[in-house]
Amino acid sequence: MNPSVPSEQLPRASAGRGNPELAPPPPSRTGGAYGTGGAPGGSPSGDLFDSVLPPASDIYKGSREILRESYVPARLPHRENQIRQVAEVLSPGLRGELPSNLLIYGKIGTGKTAVVQQVRLEFLRRATADRSMSFLSINCGNIDTPYSLLQTLGNSLAEREEDRIPTGWALDRVQGGLRGLLNARGGICLLVLDEIDRLVARSGDGVLYTLSQINTELDTARLCLIGISNDLKFTNHLDARVRSRLNEEKILFPPYDAPQLQDILRDRAREVFRDGVVDAGVIERCAAYAALENGDARRALALLRLAGEIAERERARRIAGDHVVKAKSRLELDIIVECVRTLPPHCKVLLYAILQAFERRRTGVLTGEVYDAYCKLCQRLGLQPLHARSISNYLSELENLGLVRAGIVSRGRGGRTREIVVDVPIAETVPVLAEDPLLAALARPRGPNQTLLTNFDNPNRS
Ligand SMILES: Nc1ncnc2c1ncn2[C@@H]1O[C@H](COP(=O)(O)OP(=O)(O)O)[C@@H](O)[C@H]1O
Ligand SMILES: [Mg+2]
Repeated sequence: MNPSVPSEQLPRASAGRGNPELAPPPPSRTGGAYGTGGAPGGSPSGDLFDSVLPPASDIYKGSREILRESYVPARLPHRENQIRQVAEVLSPGLRGELPSNLLIYGKIGTGKTAVVQQVRLEFLRRATADRSMSFLSINCGNIDTPYSLLQTLGNSLAEREEDRIPTGWALDRVQGGLRGLLNARGGICLLVLDEIDRLVARSGDGVLYTLSQINTELDTARLCLIGISNDLKFTNHLDARVRSRLNEEKILFPPYDAPQLQDILRDRAREVFRDGVVDAGVIERCAAYAALENGDARRALALLRLAGEIAERERARRIAGDHVVKAKSRLELDIIVECVRTLPPHCKVLLYAILQAFERRRTGVLTGEVYDAYCKLCQRLGLQPLHARSISNYLSELENLGLVRAGIVSRGRGGRTREIVVDVPIAETVPVLAEDPLLAALARPRGPNQTLLTNFDNPNRS
């Protein structure tokens, strides 16, 4: 999956999320009737779909994509100040002057990505005629290494196929290639590094050092960095020079409280649901649950979306409080799925190795075994394994995300090691990993002793 979005080519509406997942989701494990078209009228299967397709029009008036994370709403209530602040910092770019680097931080779901993408769209709208202006956005959450970050960045600037930076170059050469591409484009390049904290947790701040001092080596271009972090203490982990360069301007996004979340939900509910189908108390309940979860707007929207889906599947004519309660328990699983889906490739391979070992052993797995299993999988996939230290960082990340748990075990004279236990439902997680084309090669059936994991080629397996 390509985590970057080339700067000027975005359509104007909701496609500005820096996230290519704008198409309706593939049929998911819920088997839900997603999509917008339904079966074409008069087709032989028309009867079948008539019997299973819920009467969507009872509840929805707009596309349910409006409640998805990838949708950028026209209005972002309670973020007017932040939008203004970000625009103020970046505005010199419109005059061809280099803006200060900017660090945006706040807990997850506080609107950081949405605000920056909205400002970015406005900026690009103003700068359309100006070829010497680029505004790129990269989500570091699904980038494995500093190398791939620089390569991705370079390649989003490359205008011709032959200018692209291929895989396999030495890091120095990639850096040189990137400088060349920046100079060729010239002018001001604004670069959003979303979820920058995850990249630094994985592989240190070396790449930020490279990027934050690249202007001293550029001739015709200037780079401005806009870092977005979900970790409030992120800058503590940075080298002092990187910290001061990145921190030239800083904006904190506070969590939303329940009334603010209600406003956000009401806006979306008005766009997506028919008048009067949302029972009194539904919005308040979604907002209250999400306010308890650190004021996370993403969680609030997900609850409302799921409540709608559940009501629809039950063929209810209205969305009621009960549907929100059901949505809340289903959301836990959905969060896991989403979390797994957005892991970077090597982290997915690692998780697969853990699931495989855990399923075989039915007990905790030692870190050494996991690393061996990971290396073997990489070999099967034709990938160069990452160093054990990077994999150990990934393991901590999986632990922080709540996907695995690792406890210290004493092994007598063998010393102490970590034992890993899986904290996700394997049956639901494997198909999500299988969606990644990189892991599809693991799908080959492996004979009569097939386990769940070797059934990998059938992601829709129930
Ligand atoms: N003020 C707001 N108004 C409307 N929607 C919002 C607002 N803040 C966040 N959202 C929505 O909530 C979800 C999470 O926001 P996002 O910007 O991704 O959060 P963050 O980047 O801080 O984790 C997105 O779907 C976004 O559109
Ligand atoms: Mg974000």
